[in-house]
Amino acid sequence: MTQEHITRDVAIIGAGASGLSAATTLRALGHSVIVLEARDRVGGRLWTNTINGAPLEIGGQWISPDQDVLKAVVADLGLSTYSRYREGENVYVAEDGTRTLFTGDIFPVGQKSEAEIIRLIALLDELAGEVGCESPWTHPRAEEFDAIAFTQWLAEQSDDRVAKDNVALFVGPAMLTKPAYSFSLLQALLMAASAGGFSSLVDADFMLDRRVVGGLQSVPLGLAARLGDDVRLNQPVRHVRDNGARVTVSTDDVEVTAHRVIVALPPNLVNRMSFAPALPRLRQQMLQHQSFGFVIKVHAVYSRPFWRDAGLSGTAFSPYQIVHEAYDNTWNVDADTQDTRGTLVGFVSDVHADRLFRFSAEERQHQILESLSAYYGAEAMTPEVYYESDWAAEEWTGGAYAASFDIGGLARYGRDLRVPVGNIRFASSDIAGHGYQHVDGALRIGRDTAQEVAASL
Ligand code: FDA
Repeated sequence: MTQEHITRDVAIIGAGASGLSAATTLRALGHSVIVLEARDRVGGRLWTNTINGAPLEIGGQWISPDQDVLKAVVADLGLSTYSRYREGENVYVAEDGTRTLFTGDIFPVGQKSEAEIIRLIALLDELAGEVGCESPWTHPRAEEFDAIAFTQWLAEQSDDRVAKDNVALFVGPAMLTKPAYSFSLLQALLMAASAGGFSSLVDADFMLDRRVVGGLQSVPLGLAARLGDDVRLNQPVRHVRDNGARVTVSTDDVEVTAHRVIVALPPNLVNRMSFAPALPRLRQQMLQHQSFGFVIKVHAVYSRPFWRDAGLSGTAFSPYQIVHEAYDNTWNVDADTQDTRGTLVGFVSDVHADRLFRFSAEERQHQILESLSAYYGAEAMTPEVYYESDWAAEEWTGGAYAASFDIGGLARYGRDLRVPVGNIRFASSDIAGHGYQHVDGALRIGRDTAQEVAASL
């Protein structure tokens, strides 16, 4: 097959938030770019799609107040935002199935456990502040903090099981989407520091603050529209060759010769491309120590938001339920002229997701809806539309929400995360510092990498 030959200053692999941010920045600095995207759409882990007549946020959707770069891009694109619905009482389900209504951040777990949760959060806030998010591997105790599983560290701090289960929930199932025994204290502190502290992770009103009218994929769609024909869809990159003077990037249809390439992919996908020369040994090792978490984002659409009639906000948590957290995800009809039906979104993470995917789709749906019913009552059993976002089955993603290191990996290889290899640069939310695992981090690392590339050209 004949390939089209293209020459640009910079080739960018991946049209997610990182790649599009890099391309936008380079263009603004006067450089020519091309973005090669494997899928037939832009946005990567941002995808607003209509399923059985219901518009749904399949991927990322919420903006927290600290996501300054994302907020600036949203404003620049002329998009508007609105607050997530949160009026009324939240629901907590205890290990014995007892359902309690509450307001505020701390779950109703009894005075002793509550005090212990507050103490552990303060301790984690302090450590996250010390470690920071830009280079946690440089902390004097980095190796020690990276050698201990988060559950083990919690066990050494407290003998209050309920407090430990709840603190583990905020960073395990809810963020890294891995069991809290499978990542280290250092990795947990990076997650917390990247969001401004452990207290931020605990605060759903902070982390899940605002939504974009029309859906968060409007951001990559808006950026791509400005880049026009320089974004090429259906172009999975197969080969990257760096001869020192120039780098050549090829898909089945296109061969691009450029001064630099920015690989804007999650780490697990990097080695699906062949590199000549091969990537350095420490980078190959590093890539093998980073993996995606596993979470099912469940959407259940009802004829109306029935939980609001009962004075519920829709916000629900339990470390003991299959659905460990759930929210009212109804579109704001004042801001968005979209679906007026009531939508709940829930999350099933790590070992629960493993277990449920061994069942038939019908059995999985039944168990998930039963879990939603534990929070909202029997009416939750019969949605009009039911859908599971299944990012682990997506060829060009492979999990959700993002990648993290296994125990010991961050201290060993963190310093190599953002180091260039010849003319090759790496940028994705998975290797960002501030905004790690989030859209803000993707936009930041795309912008910063582009600025460094522009300065080097
Ligand atoms: P991303 O994975 O988006 O982009 C990489 C791109 O590269 C993809 O488009 C892919 O198709 C393409 N690609 C892969 N291999 C290729 C190849 N060989 N050649 C060419 N192209 C290739 N964040 C947040 O801020 N708020 C939130 O509420 C959430 N919630 C959330 C929920 C769910 C279910 C998910 C999956 C994720 C989130 N996130 C989130 C995280 C957020 O969506 C994520 O961090 C960023 O969108 C990642 O953007 P990147 O550009 O870094 O990678």
